[in-house]
Amino acid sequence: MSEDLFAPLSIRETTVRNRVMVSPMCQYSCDEDGLATDWHETHLGSRATGGAGIVMTEATAIEPRGRISPNDLGIWSDDHADALAPIAEFAKDRGATPAIQLAHAGRKASKTPPWDGSEPLQPDEGGWETLAPSAKPYPFEDATPPRTRKMTRNDIDGLKEDFVAAAERARDAGFEIAEVHAAHGYLLHEFLSPVTNQRDDEYGGDFEGRTRLVREITEEVRGVWPDDKPVFVRVSATDWLPDRESWTVEDTAELAPLLAEVGADLVDVSAGGIHPDQQIPSSGPNYQVPYAERVSENTDALVGAVGGITEPKQADALIRNDRADLAIVGREHLRDPYFTLHAAEELDAGDRVEWPIQYRRAVGK
Ligand code: FNR
Repeated sequence: MSEDLFAPLSIRETTVRNRVMVSPMCQYSCDEDGLATDWHETHLGSRATGGAGIVMTEATAIEPRGRISPNDLGIWSDDHADALAPIAEFAKDRGATPAIQLAHAGRKASKTPPWDGSEPLQPDEGGWETLAPSAKPYPFEDATPPRTRKMTRNDIDGLKEDFVAAAERARDAGFEIAEVHAAHGYLLHEFLSPVTNQRDDEYGGDFEGRTRLVREITEEVRGVWPDDKPVFVRVSATDWLPDRESWTVEDTAELAPLLAEVGADLVDVSAGGIHPDQQIPSSGPNYQVPYAERVSENTDALVGAVGGITEPKQADALIRNDRADLAIVGREHLRDPYFTLHAAEELDAGDRVEWPIQYRRAVGK
């Protein structure tokens, strides 16, 4: 019989208490140095208190130029790790598995936060030159002055070192899962997609070339991540650009076993973000789940589904029907930090979750 939403999930020697993960979500709430603040502590802490199995940080930049906005979280120094460590510890105290998304925003970096319009920030406004596989800025590829520089081989070597150093710091700060962010049009996705990668060296060209950097970084992160703890990779299954040469679900299905080979335990299957012309076929319930299913057919790695998962019964059905190993819930967690505890009530599984003892009188315990 298949598992359900409240069945623990064991990956390597790590046991996650249930199949709900808080999807990584930028909060744009750092001061301009990338250090976690009280906001992050409260935000992630309340979702750990709310019963989720895995609580993942927002995209956490492995170097300053990898931030989407100057207010993004970072992990490029020991001070950053020190600011994150209490968050990981609190999540563990609450029974959740703390996870960190290691990220570089590539050509989509150096913007204002969404509530200020996500506008490109120029250097004289506190912005910076962005990096990408090819010198094509986002969202206007012909923008002048050009704000995006093609990465050199030295840049690529430096990037790999930064990912490794970030993973080591995250490990020492107490995180139990590292997720490599290779989705949503950010740097590693930019290497994967022919829309953004026009390189003619070994990091571009054919499928093997374009996937090289993601495979290498996954392998190197795995190399410093403890053997008993999981590594995830988030991918965009498709560029949603059916009319042009682009990254497709079949490419992702081909990539997944290669990621597993270099040590990825779970592929977190999202979609889109590479180009403003993308055509999103649907954004309703489970809108990306079919991509996760296609990926799962092609790999022994676990698969996480994300996108439009808002209802307990819906999340439970994904697990029971073997459509995914993990139900990854984003915006519903912004509406309800206690999604998992509420799901347990609705699914008559109250005895399989722990309300905080401080709150038990509210639920008749
Ligand atoms: C996101 N998303 C996102 N994804 C990611 O991989 N890293 C990130 O830092 C962010 N940041 C972010 C911020 C906010 C405010 C939102 C709403 C979303 C995408 C998110 O993790 C998720 O994949 C999508 O929101 C789809 O899932 P839901 O919201 O339909 O459950």
